[in-house]
Amino acid sequence: MSILSGIFSSDMAIDLGTANTLVYVRGKGIVLNEPSVVAYQVKDGRKMVLAVGDDAKLMLGRTPGSIEAIRPMRDGVIADFDSAEEMIKHFIRKVHRRTTLSKPKIIVCVPYGATPVEKRAIRQSVLSAGARRAGLIPEPIAAAIGAGMPITDPTGNMVVDIGGGTTEVAVLSLGDIVYARSARVGGDRMDEAIINYLRRQMNLLVGETTAERIKTTIGTARMPDDGRGQTMLIRGRDILNGVPKELEVNQAQIAEALAEPVQQICDAVMQALETTPPDLSADIVDRGVMLTGGGALLGELDLSLREQTGLSISIANDPLSCVALGTGKALDFEKELRHVIDYDS
Ligand SMILES: Nc1ncnc2c1ncn2[C@@H]1O[C@H](COP(=O)(O)OP(=O)(O)OP(=O)(O)O)[C@@H](O)[C@H]1O
Ligand SMILES: [Mg+2]
Repeated sequence: MSILSGIFSSDMAIDLGTANTLVYVRGKGIVLNEPSVVAYQVKDGRKMVLAVGDDAKLMLGRTPGSIEAIRPMRDGVIADFDSAEEMIKHFIRKVHRRTTLSKPKIIVCVPYGATPVEKRAIRQSVLSAGARRAGLIPEPIAAAIGAGMPITDPTGNMVVDIGGGTTEVAVLSLGDIVYARSARVGGDRMDEAIINYLRRQMNLLVGETTAERIKTTIGTARMPDDGRGQTMLIRGRDILNGVPKELEVNQAQIAEALAEPVQQICDAVMQALETTPPDLSADIVDRGVMLTGGGALLGELDLSLREQTGLSISIANDPLSCVALGTGKALDFEKELRHVIDYDS
């Protein structure tokens, strides 16, 4: 190791997700993985950052009037510009050695469906957070690279990234996107569906955090064979008398609650299959479909997709890290991927 490697900064890759933000540093791998949440202290109309990431997520849904916890990203893109910038700055500072002289080059992945305005917002945030250059790469390409798919081959590869905000379905061949569609359905919609179901069917009010815990503990995309499945005790507020209440939910109820978002994900995959050129469709029949993103971990989602499409479905190793790993690898293969990394729009 030369002395120079200590003073020059390392380039970074960021997966700026609706639910989680991951930072990859060249030569080190993923060095940060925290929820995309910023908490502010509000005093005399002025806002001061109180916590970011893990600490801020603990405050979501539990804040007194003087504290505001915000999720800067919605549907995969920046919904609150100021808090997104605060968050990116905070995370970059956390992983970037202050002793370095030069600013890092940073590649960030963006949803396929992001508009030029949304892309500019992301690039500006990264530049003002201290990047020398900011490159953007489409999330489905990053997901496929991270899942280890041979995307530069002349064959069709289908990747389905189910994140917190969006589900991106893409067919890739020769290192680029042949077809892609971004549907605004993902983990957040599933959480909302659980909240609505419990309110309507069980007169129970629960917050996002509880809904997410139910989903990750017993959530399933298919009716359990015994019509009931596992059960879980949950707490919330009784709508009728306003007092805290504890009750049991089972997997059949949660499968019913999740039926709509699950169907929307299946529909997005079906639509992609119908639009794919026939030769590439044949490749996908051979190779199957790869699932990435946290939503890929929903119980039996792979089975449900297999039943509806007739294709073989795989879940990537560590689906929550795929996009960050793929964006990181893009730093190393910049030459080969120059047609998909966008540095200036
Ligand atoms: N075991 C699980 N079952 C179901 N969902 C899960 C599980 N684990 C995590 N999730 C969900 O995955 C989502 C987060 O996934 P991920 O980190 O890939 O999203 P993101 O990249 O932040 O979002 P996006 O790509 O849409 O911007 C959350 O909604 C989370 O609740
Ligand atoms: Mg994502």
